[in-house]
Amino acid sequence: MSDKTMVFTETEIAARVAALGRQVRENYEKILAPGEQLLAVGVLNGAFIFMADLVRAMGDLPVEVDFVRLSSYQEKDTSSAEVVMTKNIEKEISGRHVLVVEDIADAGLTLDWLIEFLKKRNPASVKVAVAVDKLARRETQVPLDYVGFTLHDGFLVGYGLDYAERFRTLPAIYEARTK
Ligand code: IMP
Ligand code: MG
Repeated sequence: MSDKTMVFTETEIAARVAALGRQVRENYEKILAPGEQLLAVGVLNGAFIFMADLVRAMGDLPVEVDFVRLSSYQEKDTSSAEVVMTKNIEKEISGRHVLVVEDIADAGLTLDWLIEFLKKRNPASVKVAVAVDKLARRETQVPLDYVGFTLHDGFLVGYGLDYAERFRTLPAIYEARTK
């Protein structure tokens, strides 16, 4: 796994995240009541870098942060994943506008699970931001409201994305050749 090809540079990521942050701010400025804050919910561990950049790209939009930690295990021969939450949100989300922030949507099962989990708690809205939308293995049509980059396939590392807990801290996104 020493073989990596650059897919999105640090400069491209910065420009894209800045644009997404502006878009988020413009949308929520119209929606949030005076005194109300957006609640950004990051999915640990992968999203922590994207989350840090995205919330800072929202300018003066009032935003509060919270995190969940999820692990998903693909069940054999089915299109379902068993998702285990090892850290829950700590804020009350009833009536709140929630923006889920995730590193990548692959099968989509993790995000699908999390959206359902959050919706049961009666938020005012749930939207989703992902750094990367990876299409080839999508199994459930999860709505993605803010997408950094779209790509067909490939195993990515860097900018929060890991391979066996390695490479998360690389500032650019690379395709790792695992073969
Ligand atoms: P899914 O959408 O339910 O398949 O799960 C998405 C999760 O799988 C992400 O949160 C990542 O942790 C992991 N994942 C999927 N594709 C990649 C990748 O290309 N690199 C690193 N992690 C990935
Ligand atoms: Mg993840």
